[in-house]
Amino acid sequence: MNEEGRPTILLLGPGGQVGWELRRTLSTLGSLRTAGREGADHSLDLTRPGALAGLIRSRSPDLVVNAAAYTAVDQAESEPELARRINAEAVGELGRAALEAGCPVVHYSTDYVFSGEGERPWREEDATGPVSVYGHSKQEGERKLADSGADHLILRLAWVYGGRGKNFLLTMRRLMGERSGLSVVSDQFGSPTWSRHIAEATAQVLAQCRTGQGFAFGERQGIYHLTAGGQASWHEFACAIADRLGTKCEVSAITTADYPTPARRPAWSVLDNEKLQRTFSVALPHWRIGLDLCMEELEACDGAER
Ligand SMILES: NC(=O)c1ccc[n+]([C@@H]2O[C@H](COP(=O)([O-])OP(=O)(O)OC[C@H]3O[C@@H](n4cnc5c(N)ncnc54)[C@H](OP(=O)(O)O)[C@@H]3O)[C@@H](O)[C@H]2O)c1
Repeated sequence: MNEEGRPTILLLGPGGQVGWELRRTLSTLGSLRTAGREGADHSLDLTRPGALAGLIRSRSPDLVVNAAAYTAVDQAESEPELARRINAEAVGELGRAALEAGCPVVHYSTDYVFSGEGERPWREEDATGPVSVYGHSKQEGERKLADSGADHLILRLAWVYGGRGKNFLLTMRRLMGERSGLSVVSDQFGSPTWSRHIAEATAQVLAQCRTGQGFAFGERQGIYHLTAGGQASWHEFACAIADRLGTKCEVSAITTADYPTPARRPAWSVLDNEKLQRTFSVALPHWRIGLDLCMEELEACDGAER
C-alpha cells in the first residue's frame, strides 16, 4: 500500500502493445509504477539475472503485472538463449521473488504454446506442444511461474494488434497504402484481439480480486484464455482491414507453404474463452467489433494530424 492507502501495482513492459494500454486501465486500480528498458519509472533489463528480484524486494509492490516478453517469433529461432532468458528464466525469477514478497502476479502467455493441430478451440487444460523456440520459451515461463508457488494468473493471448508497436494491422495498413496487391496466408486461424480490450479485461478481472490489502487470486489462480470472440484466417483479417480502409489494394489468399518463415506457426490457434467468462463474467467482443473500434481511433488520430 502507498501512503494514500492504494495498492502499489508494478507493471513490467509498459512500452509494449499490451503494456501501453495497461498503463491506463491499471491506474484506476492502484498506484501504478512501471519498469522497463526505456521511459519507465524504474529501469529494468530482464536479461540481467537478479535485476527483477532486486526491484521487487526494494519496491514491495502489492501486485506485479508482467507484459514484458521477448516477442520476435522468427528471430527467436536464431536467439533461443535470449528468448529463454526473458520468457522463461526471468518469469521463474519473478515467481520466486513474488512468493517471497507475498505479492500476486499477472503474466501473459500465448496461443503458441499449442501445436496448432486442433479442430476445436483450445481449452486451458489441453496438452501443450509448441512448434517454435518462442512457443517453447513461453511454455517454460508458464511452468516456472506455476511451480514458483506465487499466487498468479496466466492470461493466454493470441493475434494481438493495436495502434502501437509491431503488429499485423499496422503492417497491413501501411502496405495497403503502398501496393496494388498483397498475398496473405489463409490456412492459419485465430482470433485477432485488440490490445485495448486485453487491458480492459485484465482490469475487470483484477477489480474482482481486490482484498483489503491489495489483490489475491486464491482458488481462482491459474491459466485463462483471453481472446476476442469469433475466428478468422490472416487472409480474412486482412480483407476486413482492406474493407474498412476502402483501399483498391487486392488481397489474395496463399498457403503457409507459399510463405515460408524461420519459425513455424500453429495453424489452428483459436482459444476457448469459456473459463474466463464462467469465473469472472468477462468476455471480449467479436474480433470485427474490436477491429472497427481500433481503426476508428486510428482514423481519428490521422484526422487530428492533418
Ligand atoms: N503480440 C501478440 O500477437 C501476442 C500473442 C500472444 C501472446 N502475446 C504475449 O502478450 C504479452 C505482451 O505482448 P506484446 O505484443 O505487448 O509485446 P511487445 O509489444 O513486443 O512488448 C514487449 C515488451 O517487453 C519489453 N521487453 C523486451 N525485452 C525486454 C528486456 N530484456 N527487459 C525489459 N523489458 C523487455 C519491451 O520493452 P521495449 O519497449 O524496451 O522494447 C516491451 O515493452 C507477451 O507476454 C507476449 O508473449 C503476444
